Amino acid sequence: MKIIGGTPLKGRIYAQGAKNAALPVMASAILLKGQKLTLNRVPNLLDVVTMADLIRSLGASVMFNDQVMEISTPSEISWETPPDLVRKMRASSLVLGPLLARCGKAIMPLPGGCSIGSRPIDLHLKGLTRMGASIELVHGAVHAEANGLKGCRIYLDFPSVGATENLMMAAVFAKGETVLENTAREPEIFNLVESLRSMGALIEADGTGVIKIQGVDSLQSASATIIPDRVEASTYILAGAATNGEVTVADIIPNHIDSLLAKLEEAGANLTVGETEVTIHPSGRLKAVSLKTLPYPGFPTDFQPQVMVALCLAEGTSIVQESVFQSRFLHVSELNKMGAKIDIQSNSAIINGVESLAGADVVATDLRAGAALVLAGLAAHDATCVHRLGHIFRGYERLEEKLRTIGANISILPEAEECKGSSLSQPS
Ligand code: UD1
Repeated sequence: MKIIGGTPLKGRIYAQGAKNAALPVMASAILLKGQKLTLNRVPNLLDVVTMADLIRSLGASVMFNDQVMEISTPSEISWETPPDLVRKMRASSLVLGPLLARCGKAIMPLPGGCSIGSRPIDLHLKGLTRMGASIELVHGAVHAEANGLKGCRIYLDFPSVGATENLMMAAVFAKGETVLENTAREPEIFNLVESLRSMGALIEADGTGVIKIQGVDSLQSASATIIPDRVEASTYILAGAATNGEVTVADIIPNHIDSLLAKLEEAGANLTVGETEVTIHPSGRLKAVSLKTLPYPGFPTDFQPQVMVALCLAEGTSIVQESVFQSRFLHVSELNKMGAKIDIQSNSAIINGVESLAGADVVATDLRAGAALVLAGLAAHDATCVHRLGHIFRGYERLEEKLRTIGANISILPEAEECKGSSLSQPS
């Protein structure tokens, strides 16, 4: 992707449906037998296509057209997941809970995903074991079996998003009541709760980190709507901040991004927050602010690489502490190639603000790191080339097209060799 930066972006962008809500809600269709789940506002992303392929490989039919997805699950499905699909994406592990609940058996290779540190699924497996499953690791694959899962009390050592979703889906048919404690409270969790409820599941979730599920015998056809993507929305707001532009992101739920809006205000950004949209106005040079990533409602780790771009250009020294993932600073060396001044000390990035960034050849190492490099390219005064775009298209629908509508000079070149950033000799 070639970006000629330095122009303040101006205009309105409409948010896509949330990737991180669509994936678990799609996986929940596995719980149906001879029934259909219809989903609205599904984003057209590589990860969504991977999940659709995974569900198809189990025997379901998936139709996807213009944001509407219909998943029809037959009465018999396979409980063995294909390794090539599972290894493409960590969220593939979300099929484990529903498969076990429905088939009493599941075989799933340990999943892959972004290279942002070790991402075990021990909490998922511990919870399923407490519900009565027997689990073995055989040649890198999880072999799980249960002769009917049983309701129980499960305390999560960490409020893991995926473990909360997997265990909630596993508990839908469990005998009696399952109480999940210290659960994740991300908005995507409640999208899954709503969708499962519309299928007939009995779930109480009041946002306090305790979720109670009463087992039922079966579910029925239903429909659900995917919530707006708060990570995508934040990325575009931060594109406005990084270019000192005027950008409105519409069709969102602003309180899902409160932690970002509060930090931007603290940094001196001029924001207008409406009921379903947020506008960032030209705000001049932002001031340095410090933050720590935390589970929701704390500052999300998924906004960290992108907010760092705005802080690279802010006046003063910001400290960004990453407490959710072990090594989520792979974008830092690339940003430093563009003239940023960031030092890593353990799990903190110390960012000394610079007045401008310079274009360079940079490589996306994971999804949100890739988005951050695009933002840096939009802010830089000359040409930036971002390589390994596959990461970015896992989570952003028509990224370059949407950015072009607000004035970005951005294009995707067919051959990587044709793309050269401006300052290859830029000191780091
Ligand atoms: C989800 C999101 C991802 C986001 C992350 C944290 C989806 C599809 N992905 O990922 O975009 O960055 O939440 O908000 O929704 N952990 C364990 N053992 C486990 C599970 C997790 O140690 O069994 C650790 C992880 O290694 C990580 C932390 O807990 O350090 C958070 O992981 P988790 O909340 O599970 O993230 P995901 O569900 O994988």
